[in-house]
Amino acid sequence: MLKERLEKNLNKQINKELFSAYLYMSMGAYFQSANLLGFANWMHIQAQEEMQHAQKFYNYINERGARVILEQIEKPKTEWASNLNAFEEALAHEEFITNSINELVNIALEEKDHATNIFLQWFVTEQVEEEASVTEIINKLKLMKDAPGGIFMLDRELAQRQLNIQQTAQ
Ligand code: FEO
Repeated sequence: MLKERLEKNLNKQINKELFSAYLYMSMGAYFQSANLLGFANWMHIQAQEEMQHAQKFYNYINERGARVILEQIEKPKTEWASNLNAFEEALAHEEFITNSINELVNIALEEKDHATNIFLQWFVTEQVEEEASVTEIINKLKLMKDAPGGIFMLDRELAQRQLNIQQTAQ
């Protein structure tokens, strides 16, 4: 059985992952409206991955005999100042999620819940990858400084991203 403190914070994480999906869907819609369909594709895939993350927490809470409680999801922004600004905000959001995962690990260790600690390690590794992939795009956008040729090439590259189906059953 999960300790109440962990149950509460794991439930909060479901909400954060669902908000992440919502945020990236909103960024996808922003890029879609600018006819940057590759950028939009990248965001749509990112949103689906976030749904998978939420599902992992959902399954884990159930598996431990605790109760999933879904809360209201905050409204995401709909406009950004530039392509670069949207990705910079995506990175800031991922850093926020990384801190949240790290805090969950701290709580699991404090509560001596080793199973939850092991479950969370997947997310610790995933966050390194999440931050790295967004940073790579930010670096490319900074290099090209909105040069149309560069944006066109990057849009084609981001159109290649495909959903990586993750094992959500724990
Ligand atoms: Fe599920 Fe992008 O953190």
